[in-house]
Amino acid sequence: MDTLDYSGRRCFLKTVGAVGAAVALPNSVDAAPDEIGLHARALKKGMFFGCSVSVPVLRADPRFRAAVLKDCGIVVPENELKWSRVQPAPDRSALNFTFADYIYKFVQQNGLQLRGHTLVWSSGVPAWAQRQMGDMKSATAAAGFLQMHVADVVRAWRGRVVHWDVVNEPVAEDAKSSIWLDKLGEAYIDMAFQVARENDPGALLVLNQNLVEMDDSYQGSLRKKLLLLLERLLKRGVPVDAVGIEAHLSSDLKVAVKEYTSLLREIERMGLKVIVTELDVWDGRMSGSVAERDKAAAQVVKDLLDISFSFKNCLGALAWTLTDLYSWYHETPKKWRQDGEINRPGLLDSNYSRKAMWNAVASAFDAAPVR
Ligand code: G3I
Repeated sequence: MDTLDYSGRRCFLKTVGAVGAAVALPNSVDAAPDEIGLHARALKKGMFFGCSVSVPVLRADPRFRAAVLKDCGIVVPENELKWSRVQPAPDRSALNFTFADYIYKFVQQNGLQLRGHTLVWSSGVPAWAQRQMGDMKSATAAAGFLQMHVADVVRAWRGRVVHWDVVNEPVAEDAKSSIWLDKLGEAYIDMAFQVARENDPGALLVLNQNLVEMDDSYQGSLRKKLLLLLERLLKRGVPVDAVGIEAHLSSDLKVAVKEYTSLLREIERMGLKVIVTELDVWDGRMSGSVAERDKAAAQVVKDLLDISFSFKNCLGALAWTLTDLYSWYHETPKKWRQDGEINRPGLLDSNYSRKAMWNAVASAFDAAPVR
């Protein structure tokens, strides 16, 4: 049983014994996966597969690097391109891309692609910027602030980033939670996309949203809000190219098959692309054996990807947690399991063995129609 060392901020699992047992699953997801990696399978369908990476892990763990190269063709920095990381102080000349550059070197050395995450989000705004914006009386000043930041980062990464999550999780937030909505109203989204387009016309511009996949009333209300927001943005000619579906799933809930399918159908009707951007499964509320928990997690992944990949405007998927060894869930106490066992959100276990979730992703790509 894996136990969690609660002391460290980025928790490295002390593996007491290899878990990774592949479990028999109903229908196609129990097909014995062969050696072909996930990105190679995706490519056959004109799609891609990737995952999030962070500098401490890339530096420290050669098994992680090998696992990325085995299964991924594209990566996204987990935190290294967020505002709070690239500009910890007001001085614009001190934009710090050291960590993102480290990831880009890994990308170049291995022929991968790089996604940019994220330019404008209610979280990850540096404290000095929050203070300065807080004192701003005019929306013009706040607008200048936003446009300066987006222009600085997009220009610096022009031609090296293939997609930008320009605005992150715009739906669900209200004025109280978002300094951008508070200062600029919804127009902050228009500004962010327009400045991103001006500074890198070649990058795919993505509006990235969480909590729109599962069968629960709150997520149902977010699905509606997301479609209404997209309608308004497109009516105003805002250059949104794609919608990012974060897919931080919960295995104690079901995928909202009918509603999620109609969400993607509406997005397709709007002429937008779709990317599954941050796939992982929280099983903190699931009881049962590790095998039963992994089976349930694999099933929600299969249900979500089968729907997503059935739409030819879906370009591919990325995992936010590739291996159970490293995950934001381990750093989020409110998501820790009551029984003290570790969450198992990734495709690979803490020994880098493939879990049922890996099989689910593999067979979803195998079953997908060619784009
Ligand atoms: O690196 C610093 C460390 O130096 C410092 O000692 C420590 C103490 O404060 O903080 C560390 O930074 C933390 C960073 O993760 C790296 O571990 C930040 O506090 C913490 O807020 C940050 O959490 C990230 C979170 O986004 C907020 O930006 C998670 O790693 C990251 O997985 C999570 O990812 C988000 C996506 O961007 C958007 N969608 C949801 C997803 C999960 O929340």
